[in-house]
Amino acid sequence: MNQPDNLLDPRHYDGVRRPPLEAETLPAWCYTSKEWFDLEVKHIFRKSWILIGATSRVPNPGDFITLTHTGSPVIVIRGRDNVIRAFANTCRHRGAILLEESQGTCKAAIKCPYHAWVYNFNGALQGAPDMEESKGFDRANYGLVPIRLETWGPFMFINFDNNAPGLKKWAGEMYNEILPYDPENLVCTRRAEFDVQCNWKLYVENFCDVGHVKTVHKDSLKKLADSYDKPVETEYVKAEGFSFFVTHAGTRTLLDGVEKKKGFDRIPTLTGRTTHGSYYPILMPLGCIGYCVDSAWALEFYPLGPDRIKLVVNSCFHKDALKCPDFEEVAKDYYYRMDIAVPEDNWINELSQRGLSSPHATPGRIGKLETAIPYLNNWWLDQVLGPASQPSTKGARVRAAL
Ligand code: FES
Ligand SMILES: [Fe+2]
Repeated sequence: MNQPDNLLDPRHYDGVRRPPLEAETLPAWCYTSKEWFDLEVKHIFRKSWILIGATSRVPNPGDFITLTHTGSPVIVIRGRDNVIRAFANTCRHRGAILLEESQGTCKAAIKCPYHAWVYNFNGALQGAPDMEESKGFDRANYGLVPIRLETWGPFMFINFDNNAPGLKKWAGEMYNEILPYDPENLVCTRRAEFDVQCNWKLYVENFCDVGHVKTVHKDSLKKLADSYDKPVETEYVKAEGFSFFVTHAGTRTLLDGVEKKKGFDRIPTLTGRTTHGSYYPILMPLGCIGYCVDSAWALEFYPLGPDRIKLVVNSCFHKDALKCPDFEEVAKDYYYRMDIAVPEDNWINELSQRGLSSPHATPGRIGKLETAIPYLNNWWLDQVLGPASQPSTKGARVRAAL
């Protein structure tokens, strides 16, 4: 299907706007076009909360990580006051990258490698050599550019938009659903990175596609899915996102599903339904998180273009589990589950990308096990097209009907 001249004409997306079981999938160009991707960067990634890993990545004052999200280099650093802050990783003198390493610890301050301007962990400019004759130069005006950072449970999120709603409002009714998992005491013990040749949306859609487990994961996760006590429940709530809840015995984060045999003890604070199930919040536009009886995991996405992502899989455990003398040995089985299942998803998402790159790819239809995908598609479309351009076919209306 050829890309039209005017990507923003809402009529191209009428099929996506229908009720889920009447809806079409997004046109192929939404997954392949650089022009569409650039619109997503502007309207989605510069305005939404983006998961960037766990707070345990920066446990002590001065600890930092760096990342680049859709072209924007960022420093995340824990201050002496224990507050984690994010800044643009660009010097206020002549723009150099300040911290090159992907993680580390700043002993006293952040020092630019170019002319040694020095910033404290709060971003304030403390030292600027050879600037004493520069007229009207006031260090107070040249602190690092702050980027919003908030946490939800064990995970950090950034938002490049100073006017976006806060993360608590964004997560809405999902915000407190994670509390039984004692989220403040979950620690990320492994980040596994993958380079995947697919559009970021395909990966999120796949995460929300209940039906693919019996095919793509037929040799791995299928037996876990076969043992669900009832169908996966999709919960549309007041939030920029929605959630799945799966009722089951045992754990979903070990391949054999048997927790006591060789897994960790349950998270000690579980109550109600969380004692016999798993909770999966999807925080738009791309936060895919799983809270399970004995661990949590999350996907971090770094879109590198329309057809490529860096994917990071976070594995998290309760601090009590970390005290087990054989923690590393037991955790290997949890990592193994991810190392088997994630490449299966990588493979199928890359196949989807290759198929959608065909000039003959046309919009498809949504089946009963993938009715969350229209929610995703409509939310993403709403951001890119904007409410003014599609007054009568708002995705919000479709989402409200779900
Ligand atoms: S560019 Fe950073 S000190 Fe000059
Ligand atoms: Fe999968």
